[in-house]
Amino acid sequence: MSPGLHRRAFVGSALALGACNRRADAQPAPISLPPLKSIARFPVGACIQAVHLQDPELARLVVEQVSQLTPEWEMKMEYICQPDGSFRFDGPDQIAAFARTHGLRLFGHTLVWYDQPPGAFANLDESRVRFADAYRNYILAVVGRYRGQAVGWDVVNETVEDDGGGIRDSLWARRLGKLEHIVLAFQHAREADPDAVLFLNDFFLETHPEKRRAFLKLAETLLKAGAPLGGLGTQTHLAAGDQKGLIKAAIADLASLGLPIHISEMDVSLQEGGSRAERLTRQADLYREAAEAYSALPARQQFAFTMWGLRDRESWRKREDASDAPLLFDVNGRPKAAAAAWVQGLG
Ligand code: XIL
Repeated sequence: MSPGLHRRAFVGSALALGACNRRADAQPAPISLPPLKSIARFPVGACIQAVHLQDPELARLVVEQVSQLTPEWEMKMEYICQPDGSFRFDGPDQIAAFARTHGLRLFGHTLVWYDQPPGAFANLDESRVRFADAYRNYILAVVGRYRGQAVGWDVVNETVEDDGGGIRDSLWARRLGKLEHIVLAFQHAREADPDAVLFLNDFFLETHPEKRRAFLKLAETLLKAGAPLGGLGTQTHLAAGDQKGLIKAAIADLASLGLPIHISEMDVSLQEGGSRAERLTRQADLYREAAEAYSALPARQQFAFTMWGLRDRESWRKREDASDAPLLFDVNGRPKAAAAAWVQGLG
């Protein structure tokens, strides 16, 4: 049976079984799906925190379902860079070791982010070391440590203004220049690892077309400046109230430069959009649309499809609203209707 038929047979039977049982006892039947990575034609990823790997059930689900891991926190400056300027790598090393042990790809997130300039940079004693040297040293140290294992990096994260007005203000932009700090970050990352795919990553690219336009314009500027930009990451943090069709339009637009695309952090919050049942249906529809849009890309542009978590239990969204359930697997790791819809969208 060809993979496509195999997949449709699985999903059709899972949904039909669910429907039958629903009519009989009005209880949603458990959904049975093959592992996501076994039916997707591209790498399937999830973010993870080192502490989560202590949960054997989640560790099992991760190994079963995905082929790529993104450290949710431990590869960010706020974790690695200590107040005295020293670096700690215990957390990312744990995740890297787990990925290596289980044959999973590792994706680095993120080197330069406006949101988390650690004190060691903000209060740098420049009589000892120049800011530009500290910046380069940090990127060389972090990327160099995972050279040969990290398949790619979010080199610069969330640098475009939400209104599409340009590059955000940040410590990095103020000290090294709005465009220059971005070009330098890509050059330093490439110096540390000649093979990793280097991404520009941002959010709201589906719901804010003007931001997407500015993001694409920045990507073109970086390419013209000779920056080793190797891919575009769209975080895809959505809400059940978001309109249909936005994901497809965004993916087609982002793919227009011909670079690999990473859906890098997908989740669909239930914090808006009608009754709970309506929100769950819209959530499933958005996951289906994202899978359809991503599956329609040429293989050379399918870098990976990463969810910002696997189980609802670990989602960052639950800190805002404990009732939120933005992911494909419920708090106990059972696949939801959203997971069946995502598989359906693979076509
Ligand atoms: C979030 C994590 O999920 C949270 O645990 C943390 O407290 C804050 O950062 N865009 C990004 C991610 O690029 O790094 C953010 O991750 C979510 C938004």
